[in-house]
Amino acid sequence: MERLSTIADWRAYCAHQRERGRRVGLVPTMGALHEGHLSLVERARDNGDVVVLSSFVNPRQFSDDADLARYPRTPEVDEGLAEGAGVSALVRPELAEMWPDFPSPTLTTVSVARLGDLLEGAGRPGHFDGVASVVTKLLTVTGPCRAYFGQKDYQQLVVVRRLVRDLAFDVEVVGCPTRRDETGLALSSRNVRLSADGRQRATALSRALRLARESSGPPSERRALMDEVMRVAGVQVAYAEVVDAETLTPLSDEQRVVGRALVAGFVERVRLIDNAEIDLRERGVTCC
Ligand code: PAJ
Repeated sequence: MERLSTIADWRAYCAHQRERGRRVGLVPTMGALHEGHLSLVERARDNGDVVVLSSFVNPRQFSDDADLARYPRTPEVDEGLAEGAGVSALVRPELAEMWPDFPSPTLTTVSVARLGDLLEGAGRPGHFDGVASVVTKLLTVTGPCRAYFGQKDYQQLVVVRRLVRDLAFDVEVVGCPTRRDETGLALSSRNVRLSADGRQRATALSRALRLARESSGPPSERRALMDEVMRVAGVQVAYAEVVDAETLTPLSDEQRVVGRALVAGFVERVRLIDNAEIDLRERGVTCC
């Protein structure tokens, strides 16, 4: 496995792979790797790509310094996991090259209007500008590639698909399913900050989604159901929504489409998110 840290080496490595006729598969991460990240690597390997995994804790997507400081960092463990999973190049870019002006604001920002302002964007102002800006830079340096993103961060996937389309990147975005532990909890780097009791409470997010999927009610009922399941479990709910899968706008009770249910909440001050597809086409008829 190659270990790269400069933009020049990273760019040259990817260009060289393409010259050899190989396809580059980029897996962008913020490190603290777990099975969820490794499932993206596995998918890229199954597609026959040369896997380039980037690991950069992007300060521009954190709205508060304490959250950034608390973000887990496990560089040695990550190296072993990346190598074991068959990553060809592990890229750890330097802050000085990624955001040379930091901590002063960087003058150039990529902003995906509306899609980046809803849901997670509403609770974390500027978050998706930070994500869109860093992803734009990662894709620019990597060049033509497939880029793998998890559905775990569903809104991020929608935002990235949109910026790739709007800015005509020569990139195929591949969305990959959410990896969960045996309790249903979506794997996340932030889960290490939960106590045993917190982990137990955090399972309410996936349980709420499952019950909402199984319900036959309209979106308003399913929202209320998810909200209640999380509250009862002691989750401080940020939102429980049922939205259009592409525009992310809330669905009305009359819409019979395949949408997306998204939930977010705090457990022990750790922000957790999860989501699932929700089929509203075959809804039970409420009568009398
Ligand atoms: P990070 O949270 O490290 O996640 C990196 C990638 O792994 C994202 O595409 C995320 O959706 C995916 N992922 C995380 N948990 C997953 C799980 N349980 N199952 C499947 N995929 C999972 O997302 C980011 O970093 C950053 O915002 C980034 C895109 C790197 C930009 O800084």
